[in-house]
Amino acid sequence: MVVSFTVDKSQCRGLKWVVKDPISVKLIGPILTRLPLTPFNPLTHPGLPRYRQVFVWLQQAILAAELKSGEQLPATRELAHQLNVSRNTVKSAFELLQAEGYIEARQGAGSFVIDLPAHLLRHAPVTHSDALAQSSLPGLNHRLDALQAFRIPETRAPQRLQPAVPALDAFPLQQWKRCLGQSVSRHQLQHTPLAGDGLLREELVMHLASRRGIQVDASQLLITSGSQQALHLVAELLLCPNDRVLVESPGYPGTAAVMRAAGAKVESISWQLLQQGLPTGLKAACLCVTPSRNFPLGHTLTLQARLALLNWAEQQDCWIIEDDFDCEFATGQPITALYALSREQRVIYTGTFSRTMFPALRLGYLVLPPALVPGMLKLRGYQDGGLTRLSQHALGKFMAEGYYSRHLKKMRQLYQQRREALITAIAASPLSELPVIDAGGGMHLVQALPSGRADQALCQRLNQEGIGARPLSAYDPLNQQQGLILGFSADTADQIDDAVSHLGLVYRQTLC
Ligand SMILES: Cc1ncc(COP(=O)(O)O)c(C=O)c1O
Repeated sequence: MVVSFTVDKSQCRGLKWVVKDPISVKLIGPILTRLPLTPFNPLTHPGLPRYRQVFVWLQQAILAAELKSGEQLPATRELAHQLNVSRNTVKSAFELLQAEGYIEARQGAGSFVIDLPAHLLRHAPVTHSDALAQSSLPGLNHRLDALQAFRIPETRAPQRLQPAVPALDAFPLQQWKRCLGQSVSRHQLQHTPLAGDGLLREELVMHLASRRGIQVDASQLLITSGSQQALHLVAELLLCPNDRVLVESPGYPGTAAVMRAAGAKVESISWQLLQQGLPTGLKAACLCVTPSRNFPLGHTLTLQARLALLNWAEQQDCWIIEDDFDCEFATGQPITALYALSREQRVIYTGTFSRTMFPALRLGYLVLPPALVPGMLKLRGYQDGGLTRLSQHALGKFMAEGYYSRHLKKMRQLYQQRREALITAIAASPLSELPVIDAGGGMHLVQALPSGRADQALCQRLNQEGIGARPLSAYDPLNQQQGLILGFSADTADQIDDAVSHLGLVYRQTLC
């Protein structure tokens, strides 16, 4: 039926009209151009440009079937008017909807929602408010569970007495800047070699030979993003699900977490047992140790124990991961690394620059037996394709110029002074009647607490008050020894004094 009549055009919104002449129009079947049920609210996505806000609003409405398949969208001019935005804004939103396949433009007729089967309309972009709680995710495996156990300090803001942080106030910034500047060149814009920057590896070869007795070819070195990534890469390369991995206790919890995340069955093994010698019947795919300086107690395995460990690993066909996290600050000359003693090359060595340079550098390394190199390079190739080159090359230069060894020498002296400042401050505090576990050197010491005292609760309170002490029990799953791991390297003597006074007060209030 065709109806002709005179009409006031302001009444026509939402209907499709064919204009014959200014007075008479023909209704060819009303098509309702509705707006989504959910009103447009620019405050829902305040950070987005306005056209994106309109896009998201319409996108959500289509995916939630508020605008149905085949439905016509309002004309851009009309919608702009209703939303109080410019017509170009709406046009851009429509263009994006069309480009992403939500609507189609029909010549001379307008824009229409694309035909989408109802069963596909369950999907909508996730917003913060409806993100799933992890516990409700189906079928998650032990890897995610294992990562729950990884304790990452709640705050990464600098704190007093924080372990594993070097003296950033004494870092030679000018020399570092120079090395960075000299490392910017067209040549350095190329891909990084998978194993890491050549200069850095060559410098490391010399450094490891002179400081750790490790004599290897540069091809056996892999530069990593800290020793944390080094551990992860080794676990990925060598472990099968449910492999047994032995991890020393006390020890660095990040090691056990990485191994668990790789699907291994992790068992703690006491430092005392490592010292006595592991039983011949004990089988494992991998053993993780800090033989030169236990973390966090600082003990060194005797030569007999180190050699016995190598024999055991060779008999059991077991890999040893030697984590050499702060050997540079041991008192006297550092001992020969286990890696250098392993005839059958069962040892994988990892070291880090987080402590000798600065934590934000995120550079560490692996020294691999030659047999593992090709596999590891392939793994690296598909995992991250190599690390950022600039900082690696700058570090290579820093070492080649002799800045690194000079810096280490200065830090050894400085840390010795800061260590003494901490011991003096503790001796004058309410903690003085308790023993200090101090193997000498290093960047932290351990203040023992009476057994049964809640070192974790004490540390929580201290951390809230800006003191970065770590609870010893969290590093000792086997014996739950009680104590505070107190760093001294990052703070001046005055700062150490103040922090220990405060620590003494909190200790009295919490534990006495
Ligand atoms: C014993 C030990 N190994 C490895 C790491 C990881 O260090 P990074 O990834 O910074 O090199 C740490 C960090 O504190 C550690 O204490």
